[in-house]
Amino acid sequence: MRPESQRSGIETFHVMDVWKAAAERQRSHGDVLSLAAGQPSTPAPAPVLRAANLAIDAELLGYTETFGILPLREEIAAYHRHKYGIDVDADDVVVTTGSSGAFTLVFLAAFDVGDTVVVARPGYPAYRNTLAALGCRVVELDCGPQTRYQPTVAMLEELDAPPAGIVVASPANPTGTMIEPSELAALARWCDEHGSLLVSDEIYHGIEFETGEGTGSPATSTAWATSRDSVVIGSVSKYFSMTGWRLGWMLAPETMRPALQRLASNMTVCPPSVSQFAAVEAFGTEARTELDGHVSRYAVNRELLLEGLPDLGITKLAPADGAFYVYADIGHLLDGENSTAWCARLLHDTGLALAPGVDFDTVRGGETVRLSFAGSTADVTAALDRLAAWLPVS
Ligand SMILES: Cc1ncc(COP(=O)(O)O)c(C=O)c1O
Repeated sequence: MRPESQRSGIETFHVMDVWKAAAERQRSHGDVLSLAAGQPSTPAPAPVLRAANLAIDAELLGYTETFGILPLREEIAAYHRHKYGIDVDADDVVVTTGSSGAFTLVFLAAFDVGDTVVVARPGYPAYRNTLAALGCRVVELDCGPQTRYQPTVAMLEELDAPPAGIVVASPANPTGTMIEPSELAALARWCDEHGSLLVSDEIYHGIEFETGEGTGSPATSTAWATSRDSVVIGSVSKYFSMTGWRLGWMLAPETMRPALQRLASNMTVCPPSVSQFAAVEAFGTEARTELDGHVSRYAVNRELLLEGLPDLGITKLAPADGAFYVYADIGHLLDGENSTAWCARLLHDTGLALAPGVDFDTVRGGETVRLSFAGSTADVTAALDRLAAWLPVS
């Protein structure tokens, strides 16, 4: 029997264990309340659903162009033009199978085995794990509250040598924090000057709260405003409430496109075509009004958590600038156990599921948890009530 490849020996996504335990608990008790999933609790917007039905009736739904159908690439380009006032056209856009598919393609197109790629810690674990499976050397930058848990040029300057690439996310998962526009621009310039590729994960754009001047949270900005040699990653999964449709995209530097074309055509042929035809309708006014309604609900949920958690003695929270997460330090509540065991006990005792920090932070994740507020306001309120009843009185 052939053994597993060495490259497959990467970390699993530990939050899946929480999902499994929550599903078992739901079967046995029927009382699960989950703030563990990083996805909206709402379906795709109505015009997208209508377009999907129409596409099923009227389109062949065979393979499409490898980089995606032109009407979708045009919509995505227009979205970037209007949101950031930058010059983007359909040729700049590569549609992919989720942003997850975009990451794999970019990493393959730009990095070789042994190349050093820098990521933030805490951060989204799939960057680290996918890069490791591809044979890259992953260097984690220790990012703390002083820099909103985000990497800076100063941190890159301290490396022994410029890395082949750096992956940043703003707003980030698990912290929800954003990078100051001037810092993102500086990172893009530094990468250009040092021959490093900046991969800017912008998939949570559209879900930002009280950002910009005078609010305490950075304004939204895009790496392409500074450098078209960087890669911008987008997705319909978060703001657009379409996780399972598996569509993402990238704004790719012109020089990278031939490699992306070779890789994508061989690896996936094209992204799912029914999702592409449907997603064309995700950028119109009707869909955006519905989606902005979700963001208003996230804002209410976020407020509830930012006020409610400190009342329970959970005061060390990352600034939740965007996305739909609150990342909390629970170190003071742990009596020798780690966050995984704490979350398991919480689920066992109350039916409330949270994501332990171990996925996101290989060093301090044993003392943190992530609460997703993408669900209903009633769920967030009930979650706070269950926590209040369960936590020891301080
Ligand atoms: C920061 C970040 N990037 C990328 C992804 C992958 O998203 P998708 O493949 O659904 O576009 C996620 C999913 O949670 C994420 O949080």
